[in-house]
Amino acid sequence: MDLMAFIRSLPKAELHLHIEGTLEPEMMFDLARRNGIALPYASVEATRAAYAFSDLQSFLDLYYAGAAVLRHERDFYELAMAYYCRAAEDGVVHAELFFDPQTHTARGVSFETVLNGLEHAGRDAREQLGISSRLILCFLRHLSEAEAFATLEDVRPHLHRIQGVGLDSSEVGHPPSKFERVFSVCRDLGLHVVAHAGEEGPPAYIWEALGRLRAERIDHGVRALEDPALVARLARDRVPLTVCPLSNVKLRVFPTMAQHNLKVLLEQGLRITLNSDDPAYFGGYLAQNFLAAAEALDLTRGQLVTLAKNSLLASFVTVAERAPWLDRLEQVAARDPVLN
Ligand code: ADE
Ligand code: ZN
Repeated sequence: MDLMAFIRSLPKAELHLHIEGTLEPEMMFDLARRNGIALPYASVEATRAAYAFSDLQSFLDLYYAGAAVLRHERDFYELAMAYYCRAAEDGVVHAELFFDPQTHTARGVSFETVLNGLEHAGRDAREQLGISSRLILCFLRHLSEAEAFATLEDVRPHLHRIQGVGLDSSEVGHPPSKFERVFSVCRDLGLHVVAHAGEEGPPAYIWEALGRLRAERIDHGVRALEDPALVARLARDRVPLTVCPLSNVKLRVFPTMAQHNLKVLLEQGLRITLNSDDPAYFGGYLAQNFLAAAEALDLTRGQLVTLAKNSLLASFVTVAERAPWLDRLEQVAARDPVLN
């Protein structure tokens, strides 16, 4: 079996995926036409050509502008269904999707419109594709604590419909501690907690995400390697890092894939998972992230199995829900001639 077929055959969970970041230029144009919204690009090709980023902020500017074509429940439904179809082809059995409600409510789209569309897609994905899913609401860290609290009020009647909360957007200058009180309320409401930290921000932000927000997973976290005490803490507590290889190269966190530190982190005993972040902008969905990392870093098939297993163990599903996926993963590994 060639490497890509092997990667696709591994049951995997995707734990770091912004649904707004799956908006392909073709769909952006279709929705812009349908919703009567002007785009700053002349064509699909010109849109793709604009995706040359120098850092996180240069990407976020285009990502928020692109999201403006999403207006109706049906738009969010179609966006998420398109993602689930791609994910199914890549062997994703479970996905925990991030969504950014503040991006939409700021444009007059109601929280319920967003949630209804995404939830409906999640139901259909389970029935039609056999994929399970959850939703994680992300607060935009460039906005204020008061705005995060206002969003939390929108969520309250729908608490049972989301699995947890996260923290995303412009990292540097917006440390996790800015949202300590918001996350404390979220934890008291029984929500799971994750946070982007250590993508562009320093290791101190990862310490804050762990200590002040009590994050159960760190999104990205690659700058942890600069702090040996932090690496030891992450290893000891088996804190999952949701690493996004293609994203990190596109946003110049690492100059090339060969210089990515995920193999070092994995070999230091951290619970590393691979994810696609914003695949429409970064050039590939989950299997493509596995393949690019495997080829550039010479990952063994055993390491790819470990990465897939880590994703299942790091998900927020119950032990009973993940048991059949872990069994299937073991069977795939046992059958592979390269591994045995
Ligand atoms: N929002 C979407 N993708 C993001 C990323 N990689 N970092 C921070 N915020 C984001
Ligand atoms: Zn992200």
